[in-house]
Amino acid sequence: MAQRETWATRAGFILAAVGSAVGLGNVWRFPYQVGEFGGAAFLVVYLALIAVIGFPVILVEFTVGRYTDRNPVGALKQISTSSWQRIGWVFVVAGFVILSYYSVVAGWVLQYTVYGLQGNYAADGAAQFGATTGGMMSVLTHAIFMAAVIAVVGFGIRRGIEFSVKLMVPAIIILLAGLAIYAGTLSSAGEAYAYYLSPDLGTIAANWTSILPAAAAQAFFTLSLGMGVMITYASYLGEDRNLAKDAVIIVGLDTAIAFTVGLVAFPVLFSGDLAVADIVAIGDGPGFIFIALSQAFSNIPFGSVLGAVFFGTVTIAALSSAISIMEVVVSYLIDERGVDRIPATLLIGTAIFLFGVPVAYDGSLSWLTVYDELANNILLILGALLLSIYIGWIQTDIGLEELGKGIRNLGGWGTAWIWALRVPVVVTLVVILGLNAIGAYEAISGIIG
Ligand code: TRP
Repeated sequence: MAQRETWATRAGFILAAVGSAVGLGNVWRFPYQVGEFGGAAFLVVYLALIAVIGFPVILVEFTVGRYTDRNPVGALKQISTSSWQRIGWVFVVAGFVILSYYSVVAGWVLQYTVYGLQGNYAADGAAQFGATTGGMMSVLTHAIFMAAVIAVVGFGIRRGIEFSVKLMVPAIIILLAGLAIYAGTLSSAGEAYAYYLSPDLGTIAANWTSILPAAAAQAFFTLSLGMGVMITYASYLGEDRNLAKDAVIIVGLDTAIAFTVGLVAFPVLFSGDLAVADIVAIGDGPGFIFIALSQAFSNIPFGSVLGAVFFGTVTIAALSSAISIMEVVVSYLIDERGVDRIPATLLIGTAIFLFGVPVAYDGSLSWLTVYDELANNILLILGALLLSIYIGWIQTDIGLEELGKGIRNLGGWGTAWIWALRVPVVVTLVVILGLNAIGAYEAISGIIG
């Protein structure tokens, strides 16, 4: 077998991981979750979960990946001889499902970039969104996006992924910062910041059974956790990196960028003719940034240009995330099945495209919701929970040994990390999985009658 690739530079790994983390999760999913679950109340719970759950779990994936130098399925085979091995499969299935609808939404973002370039944002945002999200055009933009993903991943770790994230990640940061400054000059900024930034503790207490699982799903999705992306990316690393330091940078940047997206999105939204109540109503769903933002862009000076820049940035961010999901599945075929990279990429890319066609063609968004909830509320949480139990309770020495490499003096931090996994992470994830199971049961019995 050919020698396994590694990252060419120190920055390569961090940029690739940031590129993976920052994507539609930050720009498309985050604002509508904020809108749906109570504004600042959601933000507070989300930030807490990033620190308490996201940080320890990203370290689990990093240590497992670097320890084994394998794709997630191979990694689990190497560290376990029992049925824990099957966690690797949860990851691959989750990746397949997520990328199939992720690419569809990314195709819509591409379409909205084109609308901006054409000066075409409609005053009736909902009608335009409805026309974009179903039928052959939506299948076509899904195909174009998947073709781009296949192209980058086909070029491999250094020439494909590392090269492209070095261009994409700085571009995302610069463009978003510029947009946030611009949004701050809008007269609506004050009202928008109040909605986004002053949490009401009563709201959290009254709605925690819905806010907690939603915020957790968002935390996992945005950090690309629970499906082995970070295992895969860390498997291309040398032994000398301080994984904890890298994790702080990656988690910090992803969180800062999501937060900044809120600083762009809410002032732009509030600048339209919509009242807060209308915005919250639109916020209830995947159409949020598309409808509300494009409608606002149709109203403000230079709106089309700004919109093209905004949606163009999001397309780039989506691409740098989508390649990471694809790499998980492709690395499995390369490592475990001995398939060459290019055929593996074409095969998986085509299969994922086909699996996403129902989501793309159907204009009602119901397939989208089914895929999204299956992946985020169940698969990602399950994958992360099982892996955290395995490293936290069963194979503790693997995690500790690997974390210690590249850190001169781990001191008590290693133990603190293991205990964070053992109790807060495991308990919170079990509670969330339980709440999600109840939610799914209620939804199903609601349909049956
Ligand atoms: N984190 C990315 C985003 O916010 C999406 C993503 C990439 C992802 N890889 C993942 C989500 C793995 C879950 C699991 O857009």
